[in-house]
Amino acid sequence: MREHTTSSEISGLYKLSVHERLEIVESCGQLTNEELETLSATKPLTVEEASQMLENVAGIFPLPLSIATHFRVNGRDRLVPMVTEEKSIVAGASYAAKLARSAGGFTASCTEPRMVGQVQIMNCPSPDEAERRVVREAQGILEKANALGGSIVGLGGGGRSLECKVLRTDRGSMLIVDITFDTRDAMGARFVTRACESVAPFLEEITGGRALAKIVSNFAVKRICKAGAVWRKDLLGDGTVAGILDVCEFAIHDKFRCVTHNKGIMNGIDAVAVATGNDFRAIEAAAHAFACREGRYVPLAKYFQDDDGNLRGEIEIPLPVGIVGGSTTNPVARICRKILGVNSVTELAEIMAAVGLAQNFAILRALVQEGLEGSYRRLSGVGVRTSQKT
Ligand code: MEV
Repeated sequence: MREHTTSSEISGLYKLSVHERLEIVESCGQLTNEELETLSATKPLTVEEASQMLENVAGIFPLPLSIATHFRVNGRDRLVPMVTEEKSIVAGASYAAKLARSAGGFTASCTEPRMVGQVQIMNCPSPDEAERRVVREAQGILEKANALGGSIVGLGGGGRSLECKVLRTDRGSMLIVDITFDTRDAMGARFVTRACESVAPFLEEITGGRALAKIVSNFAVKRICKAGAVWRKDLLGDGTVAGILDVCEFAIHDKFRCVTHNKGIMNGIDAVAVATGNDFRAIEAAAHAFACREGRYVPLAKYFQDDDGNLRGEIEIPLPVGIVGGSTTNPVARICRKILGVNSVTELAEIMAAVGLAQNFAILRALVQEGLEGSYRRLSGVGVRTSQKT
């Protein structure tokens, strides 16, 4: 049994056997023997268990779970579990985090966890009058939504505000009621959809119309996370700083590059999302929609040179994630959250934003230096040695 450490500064993890790595993770995450067994897949998910999770199950599709090292976010070290099949992602993130540490690591912050649910109301006899009535009854509608109860409401979450608009479409006017919910530590998609369903009859009563779609919106622009880090000029070299700014500028001005730039960010974020039992499709949908929220698709992470010539990277991204509910109850996801040491959805989202930025930095640096294929061969003490991605 190793001595317990909370430092994420672990060099040479790649040189160890899987068993030795597990020992380190066990000690850092203070895992129980049972958790260790679960993690090392001596007790894998059975086909029978899987078939309780969804329909038509005919097998299991395993993916590697790796640990990114060297992350320090808001002054606290974190070992970051990542589930992905793509080589170099974990090594790249770890290396970027290692370089960022010497300037203090990542700072990150998040807004409150707000998700929007929508109710579409058709055939209102007078859509404009219906809109006015819904606005007048807003408080009552929110109270009815919160009467649904459950853990989110119990923990102080629930409906917070309401907006209403009339869409004039080729299929006639329709009233859209957008309700904003505080989802506390949950991603909240199911809760929000259920709450929208529960208020639909009342909305029909008020408007005289017929409620059709009642569903969460994945345009999660009301839960935004920001992260930043500085990479020192003396560690990178002037040429690399300038090159990263140039490659970033390429993404700012060119959609073909920009989508790839953002895809690299999502490589890191999705890997943590999968490890922690989160819906990476929802995160992807929100991220790319956010990237073109002003009508032009832009990079989610940008870089500047500070007054000392160091490179500063910043990311801003919606992160609709949870630490309770849905697939977060998966036993491995629970262990991954324990390794991460997160106790709130905000903490998780902040780490994910930092990982996205780290991932992006690692790729930009590699593109500027020896190219992707050659880059990770040079990495020492942080991860895999070669990149075989084609
Ligand atoms: C590959 O999965 C992702 C990258 O193409 C991202 C990028 O080019 O920024 C390497």
